[in-house]
Amino acid sequence: MLEDDTKLTKRGDTHTYNIAIDGPAGAGKSTIAKKIAARLGFIYVDTGAMYRAMALYFLRNQIDPSDQAKIEEACKDVEITIAYKDGEQIVTLNGENVNGFLRTEEVGNMASTSSVYPFVRLKLVELQRALAKRENVVMDGREIGTYVLPEADLKIFLTASVQKRAGRRWAELKAKGIEEDISEIEKDIRERDHRDMTRTFAPLKQAEDAIYLDSSDLTIDEVIDKIMEYYNKIQNREVGKD
Ligand code: DC
Repeated sequence: MLEDDTKLTKRGDTHTYNIAIDGPAGAGKSTIAKKIAARLGFIYVDTGAMYRAMALYFLRNQIDPSDQAKIEEACKDVEITIAYKDGEQIVTLNGENVNGFLRTEEVGNMASTSSVYPFVRLKLVELQRALAKRENVVMDGREIGTYVLPEADLKIFLTASVQKRAGRRWAELKAKGIEEDISEIEKDIRERDHRDMTRTFAPLKQAEDAIYLDSSDLTIDEVIDKIMEYYNKIQNREVGKD
C-alpha cells in the first residue's frame, strides 16, 4: 500500500485506484504492469491468465473453439478463481492451481480464439470488476480501459511494432532453449492481433482517454518511468484540488 492512501481517494473513501494497461500480445504489458504494481503496492491482475485458464479447460476437453454451442456448454462446467500469494497471482481452474500450464503458444492461441464469445468474456469480467472494486489494481488486458474498467484512473495503451514484439518473443523462447522461426512467430502475432482487434464484443482498442505508448525503442525501465510520470501527474492534480 502507499504510505498515504487518502491521496488516492477520488470518489469517496471507498474508491480504489485502478490502472488499466491494454495492448496487443508481446508489447510487454505483463512485465511492466507487474513492476508498477510492486512499486505502488497495488495488486497486479493478469486478465490474460484468466482467458488462458478457460482455454486450458477447452484444450484438455478437446473442445473445438469454432463450435460455439460446445464452448457455451463447457463454460457451465468451469470455475475460475484468483488468489494472491507472495504477490503472485494464482489462477485456479475448478480448484486446481494451473499457473504452470498457461504460458504456452497453444494455450495463448486457444485463449485468443475462444475469448471472442461474449459468454466466455462475461464469466471473467465480473471477477475482474469485483477485484478492482475491492483493491488498488494494475490490470492488463485488451479491453480493460474500454470495457472492463471504463472509469479507471489511469489508462495506458502499450504497443510495439510487430517485428519488435516477434523479436522479443523469439529471444524469450531461445532463452528457454526453444528455437523458433521468427517469421512463424511474426505470423502468429499478426493473426492474434487481427483476431483480438476484430472480434465484435469488446475488441482490443485504445480507449479515447488512454495514453498511447510505443515501447518499440524503449527499455522496460523507460516505459515504467513514463507510466510513473503520468501516475504522479494525476496524483499531484488530485492533491492540488483539496
Ligand atoms: O495477454 P495474453 O497473451 O495472456 O492473452 C491471451 C489471449 O486472451 C489474447 O490473445 C486475447 C485474450 N484476452 C482477452 O481477450 N482479453 C483480455 N483482457 C486478456 C486476454
